[in-house]
Amino acid sequence: RFDQIRPKVEKHIREVKDFPKKGINFRDIMPLFGDPALVNELCVVIADHIRHTTGQIDSVAGLEARGFLFGPQVAIQLGVPFIPIRKQGKLPGSTINASYIKEYGEDRVEIQEGVIKNGDRVFLIDDLLATGGTLRAAADLVKKAGGQVAEAFVLIELSPLNGRSKLEDVNLTALISYD
Ligand code: PRP
Ligand code: ADE
Repeated sequence: RFDQIRPKVEKHIREVKDFPKKGINFRDIMPLFGDPALVNELCVVIADHIRHTTGQIDSVAGLEARGFLFGPQVAIQLGVPFIPIRKQGKLPGSTINASYIKEYGEDRVEIQEGVIKNGDRVFLIDDLLATGGTLRAAADLVKKAGGQVAEAFVLIELSPLNGRSKLEDVNLTALISYD
């Protein structure tokens, strides 16, 4: 099913040179949302992948901001909770946090305490894997909270940045990979 939807999604990915900084070749996923039927199909395909391949999960965790575009829709398909992983200072109450370095800067991510229970299998989702800093921090957060990463899923992997090497302990799936 990924093979069928991959070329359709790929057509909507726009390349923007020197954004947000000189030398960065930005892959813009926003045009995809001009095709709501395809977005829906994609989220259904991801949910089917989880049912048939990932296996039982307790929640879907999405990364701010672009992981929020897909995560809740996949979670709704499966009838499991969605957990937002946000940049520092955005979530009220007690939080667990992890810091990281990404392709164009440094950041810190957080989840709310109590949303992951001991032993929970969490499906991580984001739009894109670049240096892997973001997903590494997200995986560390899940573990700190007592959960395990059932799988990490991205729409796009930028292979030359070798983010995968930071995630050797994680079952990582990318729909599209760019060289
Ligand atoms: C982008 C992207 C990933 C991350 C990948 O988010 O959506 O979350 O960078 O980079 P990495 O693999 O090098 O860590 P960004 O931090 O630009 O934030 P946004 O989604 O809030 O725009
Ligand atoms: N996040 C990190 N690097 C990126 C890139 N090249 N394109 C889109 N999002 C990104």
